[in-house]
Amino acid sequence: MKKSLEVLSSKEALIAKALTIVTQRIEAAVQERGGCAIALAGGSTPKPLYAALSQQNLPWSKIHIFWGDERYVDPDNLQSNQKMAVEAWLNQVDFPKANIHPIPTAAENPVLDASAYEEELQRAFGTEQPRFDLILLGIGSDGHTASLFPHTEALKVGDRLVTVGNKDGEPRITFTVPLINNARSVIFLVAGADKRQALDQILAPTADAMTYPARLVQPHAGELLMLLDEAAGAEIAVAS
Ligand code: 6PG
Repeated sequence: MKKSLEVLSSKEALIAKALTIVTQRIEAAVQERGGCAIALAGGSTPKPLYAALSQQNLPWSKIHIFWGDERYVDPDNLQSNQKMAVEAWLNQVDFPKANIHPIPTAAENPVLDASAYEEELQRAFGTEQPRFDLILLGIGSDGHTASLFPHTEALKVGDRLVTVGNKDGEPRITFTVPLINNARSVIFLVAGADKRQALDQILAPTADAMTYPARLVQPHAGELLMLLDEAAGAEIAVAS
């Protein structure tokens, strides 16, 4: 696994760097494999990146969009990760509808919707072990990533691609650790001083991964890139 970490001078610089890298990774995947499968992060940090991507001239018909996790709400709910990305990016460019693969949340049963998304992934990739070209992730101030929250059952799921996460009793749908770790490239986008304490533990030589689940993200045959803004990464010694 190739790991790298970069601290950018501001959130704007972080987004600009992420735009360059994500665009490069998409173009390389299309060049090398004829297409790109990318899983989006939710939350607030990636929204300006999605808006910036909507201004790019990329081969949209060769890009397939998935989500690494979703709140268990309707797609028109303000909390929806799908709604955020669709409005910031996907509705702004000419994406074929068939290339957008939202996480279902309509079964009123998160276990059923998680299984349905797993089947969608296997169908779309044509294999039982999908390998994403790129997975974008955020990190919460508690050290969670996707909807893999501290000390939850989802952290231990090793035989599924998608499972039910749990945030303070609220169900979420989330990629599992094995699916994330099978990716070619995983990029963490982390901004804000409220992430510092968690980052210290996530980057420490030893710490409890059940307490800081982002430590579980180790794409064994791929690259792990951590992009931080100054507020989040000021105290982190970057190996020169
Ligand atoms: C979600 C995300 C979640 C997010 C982190 C960071 O559904 O909220 O997938 O894992 O990436 O909580 O969120 P911010 O970018 O808003 O700090």
